[in-house]
Order: sequence, then structure tokens, then C-alpha cells
Amino acid sequence: MERTTTIAGVRVRVAEARSAGARIGLVPTMGALHAGHLSLVERCRDLADLVVVSIFVNPTQFGPGEDLDAYPRDLEGDEAALRALGPAAPDVVFAPAVDEVYPRDPVTTVSVRGLDQVLCGVSRPTHFDGVTTVVTKLLNIVQPDVAVFGRKDFQQLTILRRMVADLDVPVELVGGPIVREPDGVAMSSRNRYLEGVDRTAARALSRALRAAVAAARAARAAGEVPSSGVLRDAATVRLRAEPGARIDYVEVLDPDTLAPPPDGADRWLVAVAAFVGPARLIDNVVVGERADEDALLAATDDR
Ligand code: PAF
Repeated sequence: MERTTTIAGVRVRVAEARSAGARIGLVPTMGALHAGHLSLVERCRDLADLVVVSIFVNPTQFGPGEDLDAYPRDLEGDEAALRALGPAAPDVVFAPAVDEVYPRDPVTTVSVRGLDQVLCGVSRPTHFDGVTTVVTKLLNIVQPDVAVFGRKDFQQLTILRRMVADLDVPVELVGGPIVREPDGVAMSSRNRYLEGVDRTAARALSRALRAAVAAARAARAAGEVPSSGVLRDAATVRLRAEPGARIDYVEVLDPDTLAPPPDGADRWLVAVAAFVGPARLIDNVVVGERADEDALLAATDDR
């Protein structure tokens, strides 16, 4: 595993591998790596011959007053965690400085209209333009055949899928499943902000999703089709029961379009966001995708 901090450096390495016939994979990250990120790297290793992990805390996706300065940065620790993957470790860590990625004030941005106006886009109105712009840059720099993103940021993945489709970017995007702590909390770099009662309160998000899955299963068992309202209410009641969590949103949407689910829907994205102590946390499940429901139920309890 080698580190490069320059665009020229990563391009040379990728060009060498491509000329030898290698399939190139990219896992974009902002570092502070946890088991969720590492599972994405392992997935990418299965899909590509040369795996690049980018580690870059992208300033343009943080709004005023957000946690850009506090965001955990630990390049040595991240590289140690990647190296510990052994045969699944990436070949290249691309860890550029801010000036390398943004040598001048960018006046060009990539915007995916509409999809960025719901869920996290409501309270973070500039966030997704920052994400789509930096991911476009990373895709242009590395030119991977495949790029792997976590499904915890479900809206991000949906927006990026639309972006590569609209802009004919020749890359396959793959979503990796959410990885959870033993108590069901979705792994997130921002969990590092949580201690004591806040860490306990964080469980309410996955438990709210579990309540939505239970409501869907109860409806199906009664021979009914689960409705968005039933799913939303079940999750909201459970999340509201946790005084340490302040709800940002509980939404039930079509997982492909992020629009209200159409009549006759058989898949529903249940997405939650809440402020817990100093952190804003998100989590989701796709009800109607059996594997996603089962993974959530296996990783959580409803105490
Ligand atoms: O999901 C993240 O960590 C970031 O949004 C990403 C995709 C690396 C872009 O900075």
C-alpha cells in the first residue's frame, strides 16, 4: 500500500495499472475510518484489481457552523486500519491537501437538482453540491471502473447515481450495506463525538427504523400493504420516546426517486436524522428489501 498526495501521482499509478489491463476501483472517504469504510474497501477489492482509497475532508460539503474544523483527522491511524486488511488492503491511498484539490476558488460546481432538496438537503442546503462536485473531481482524477459508497448515506448514493447517469460518467457505482455497532447504532465517523448518555441515546435511530420494519411486517401478516403513514408513525413514535434525540426528520420516500412513494409501491426508504449531543446522526432502511430489513433486525433490539 502506498500513499500519494498529488493528483499527478495517483494518475501515474492508475495509468500504469490500466495499461497492464487492471480494473480500477475507488472508495472515496473523508477518513476517520471505521468498520463500515473497511467493508467498502473489501467489497471494492472483490470488484477491482487496483484499489484506490481517497482520504480527503472536503471543505465544500460543510456548511457554515458545521463541524469542518472538528471533523476527526488521523491519516496514520487510517492507513494502519487499511493495512490491517491484509490481502484486501488498497493499493493506493490518495490523501491530497485542500490546495491540491482546490488550487483556486472553484466557480464550477456540479448540482443535482431536486434530489438535494429533501431529507438532509433541507437542513444542509449546500452539502450535496459540495459532495457532487468533489466526487466528480475524484472520478475525473482516478477514472475508476467502479466506485463503492456506503448505503448509510443513502441520499448521497441516490444523487451520485443520478449524476453519473445524467453526465454519462463511465463508472459503475456500488452501494455497500450499513455496518452497525453491537448495539445497532450505524457506524459513522461522527459517533466519535458521542459519550455517555448521548451514545446511549444514539440507539434510538436504529430502533426507530426497527419499529418501522416491525409495523410493515405486522401489516403484511394482516394481509395489508404497509402504508407510508404507518411506517412514518412507527418510527416517529419510537424516536420521540428518546429525550436525548432531537428529530431533524423522519421520512418515508421512494428509494429510487426520493419522491413520495407512488400508489402500489413495494419498497419504501425509511430515513431518519436526529441531533444527539454534539452530533447530527442519520440512518435508514429500505422496507420491502428483505435483506436490508433482515440485516437491521439482526443488528438491533427493541429494548
Ligand atoms: O461519504 C463521504 O465520506 C463523503 O461525502 C465523500 C463521498 C467521500 C465525498 O467527500
